[in-house]
Amino acid sequence: MASFDVSVIGELNLDLILYGLPQSLVLEREHLASDLSITLGSSSAIFAHNLSYLGNRVGFSSCIGDDPFGEICVERLSASGVDVSHIKKLKGKTTGLTVILPQRKDRYILTYPGAMYEMTERELDQSFLFNAKHLHLSSYFLQKGIRPQLIDIFRKAKEAGLTTSLDTNDDPEDRWSGDIQLLLKYVDILLPNERELCKLAQAKDLEQAAESLSQKVRILVIKRGSQGAMARVGKEKYLAFPPVVDVVDPVGAGDTFDAGFVHQFIRGAKIEDCLKFANCAGALSVTRAGGTEAFRDAAHRDAFLRKHAAGHGQSGTASSKPAG
Ligand SMILES: Nc1ncnc2c1ncn2[C@@H]1O[C@H](COP(=O)(O)OP(=O)(O)O)[C@@H](O)[C@H]1O
Ligand SMILES: [Mg+2]
Repeated sequence: MASFDVSVIGELNLDLILYGLPQSLVLEREHLASDLSITLGSSSAIFAHNLSYLGNRVGFSSCIGDDPFGEICVERLSASGVDVSHIKKLKGKTTGLTVILPQRKDRYILTYPGAMYEMTERELDQSFLFNAKHLHLSSYFLQKGIRPQLIDIFRKAKEAGLTTSLDTNDDPEDRWSGDIQLLLKYVDILLPNERELCKLAQAKDLEQAAESLSQKVRILVIKRGSQGAMARVGKEKYLAFPPVVDVVDPVGAGDTFDAGFVHQFIRGAKIEDCLKFANCAGALSVTRAGGTEAFRDAAHRDAFLRKHAAGHGQSGTASSKPAG
């Protein structure tokens, strides 16, 4: 039996969030933020952290620099119960950092990738990586070092009997180059937001993009912010909406949605139930600063899930029967 429910490969860094800054910044002026939050960031880490708090055994493969920021990241991830034994500390390298400046609706996202660019297949222990029911990868375009090997890694994961999921997130270079299309062959669940979906499919509208990508992956899940999410399994369409919540911060909602979806998927849930629970997880995430704070507060997390996701098995260890 696999040691982990889910194995995650990805980046690990803190998010530094400065609230209340003006939309246009003026050189040489000192701009004062109204609030500050320093919290566990990075798509992969938010996914792993929140998935662990939902009651899953999660293994994390990553690299950090030899600096205090890297250590804080590992501590935070470890506190959620994620197995951090395979996070490599790279001597002389710097852990990445993301600075987020939320605006009224959208946000500036400034990232120094740091150690995540250095991770290659050499840093991965495959016996650890594949000792799970499911493999997840986030932020495809930020994984510069490991990207050329990802097709091979995903192919091996499938051969080893794991199901797989991918959330590309944004491409900072906005190129959306063709190599990702080859990876899709080994992806069971693809989890883009609407914008990323259109970019990935190189399509003008949502309908055309969904049609095209639903032919390439087994399950296509499209995130739509407060509008919820859609799924396509071949020609079949599913739609679900999140509960209405007071929005504090949408950072990490997409990654947390992914965690909610995978949490149900590995338990063999129906697609509509995976979607419903994913929406609840995403909505919970926006009720606190950053992508992990809502999940760190046990009382808040449990009360929210009891109210909005009752009957959707929000905790406990995954059953031994994967959906794939
Ligand atoms: N304002 C909101 N209210 C309730 N749920 C939300 C809100 N914003 C996001 N979510 C939930 O989080 C999910 C992911 O958010 P989205 O912004 O679409 O992803 P991403 O962060 O990847 O762009 C949504 O599908 C929804 O379930
Ligand atoms: Mg996202």
